[in-house]
Amino acid sequence: MGKATILVVDDERLIRWSLRQRLEAEGYEVIEAADGTEALACFTRGVDTVLLDYRMPDIDGLEVLQRMRAEDPDVPVVMLTAHGSIEHAVFTMQAGAFHYAGKPFNLDEVALTVKNALETNRLRREVRALKATREQAPSLAGIVGNSPAMQQLKRLLQRIAQSPGSTVLITGESGTGKDLAARALHATSTRKDGPFLNITCSALPENLLESELFGHERGAFTDAKSRKQGLFEHAIGGTIFLDEIGEMSPSLQAKLLRVLESKSFRRVGGAVDIRADVRVIAATNVDLREAVRKGTFREDLYYRLAVLTVEMPPLREREGDVERLCAFFLQHFCKEFGKQVRGIDRDGLLMLRHHPWPGNVRELRNALERAVLLTDSEMLGASDFEFLRRGNAPGTAFRLPAEGIDFRALEQDFVEQALARAGGNQTRAATLLGMNRDQIRYRIEKFGLSRRRSTG
Ligand SMILES: Nc1ncnc2c1ncn2[C@@H]1O[C@H](COP(=O)(O)OP(=O)(O)OP(=O)(O)O)[C@@H](O)[C@H]1O
Ligand SMILES: [Mg+2]
Repeated sequence: MGKATILVVDDERLIRWSLRQRLEAEGYEVIEAADGTEALACFTRGVDTVLLDYRMPDIDGLEVLQRMRAEDPDVPVVMLTAHGSIEHAVFTMQAGAFHYAGKPFNLDEVALTVKNALETNRLRREVRALKATREQAPSLAGIVGNSPAMQQLKRLLQRIAQSPGSTVLITGESGTGKDLAARALHATSTRKDGPFLNITCSALPENLLESELFGHERGAFTDAKSRKQGLFEHAIGGTIFLDEIGEMSPSLQAKLLRVLESKSFRRVGGAVDIRADVRVIAATNVDLREAVRKGTFREDLYYRLAVLTVEMPPLREREGDVERLCAFFLQHFCKEFGKQVRGIDRDGLLMLRHHPWPGNVRELRNALERAVLLTDSEMLGASDFEFLRRGNAPGTAFRLPAEGIDFRALEQDFVEQALARAGGNQTRAATLLGMNRDQIRYRIEKFGLSRRRSTG
């Protein structure tokens, strides 16, 4: 908490001077303004309380009062009225002045009034901050998903948000929403008015990352031409998100552990400890336990981070969420591209539901973006998501074994499976195989499948 700032507005220099003497003796910072225009300019820059003369050369004091009230009603304004005029006093109180003091005033009384005004100001701000917290509280709403896995996740995030000091580790495959979860945690915690700063640990070489995190003193190393504050200093009161923590070098891991344990840090080359009033959220898509076993990640840091672990479930384990996410992103991209797509047809949805989503929500988001952008029709269908299949299968799951394969048997097997999954519907079975109707018909004939199976 710094000194409270009092703005003293009066066109008489002697009055400003005597008020300044007294208020500075009380430990306040005093700013002076000689007329209304100057007063409003000072007010805009931020003050805690105002002593305002009723009669001024340029703008009427009452009007200045009203403009200040319009700009920030939380800042108390004490009117200084000539000769203790009762009418003026009543007038100004009705216009929203906090109090009034009659000239010539008793400096003790003025000092007391200012003290009360400051206290009122503080309370008003507190009430406002409390209200704001209550209004914005459930901001996990930005995380789409209502599958059991996601319901559980949201409950966990809700609970963690309420312990705004503890360190959190978010794990999960790429694209599962680790970033999003970290931001939601910050936004639902009491730190939400503080900064949210993120850094990707793999993006910088070790020494740069260190000075980025902790800052440095002038001359700490060759390029340190001036003192620089690091993220831990900028984020005070807020949250730091350390992404890809698994990529952090062993020596930085040790330094981070020290910060987490002592709740303080030093700038590189610095000698003072700075209190780290910061929540650290770390994320990784590698298995840190495995990294600990291999010796690339410190065990002690792992246990320090893993006290509160949030595991983002892969999309394939979120029952029903593919449809919800599709609806969400469809609407989002229609708005973004100014398009009118009503929905996704049955075959399209069937295909999306069966896609394994190795890239999780990010992959789904990209798929919807591309489909909405490219389509000319009102409904998206399987053909609009054809590209998903092409990017998916070959190369990974279906690598050709060294001894070769019986391609004919494999092909027949897949056609049979597709027909079974599509309930005999040839068009849908073709979609599942990335073929058109003629191509699957040809194979049904070739393998003699039509005799054994109903056709769709
Ligand atoms: N549940 C969700 N609801 C809405 N959007 C989501 C959800 N999950 C992820 N997204 C969106 O998907 C994209 C990828 O999510 P995010 O960047 O959070 O993933 P990540 O886990 O951090 O991935 P990586 O490991 O690759 O960094 C983002 O655009 C994000 O907004
Ligand atoms: Mg991420």
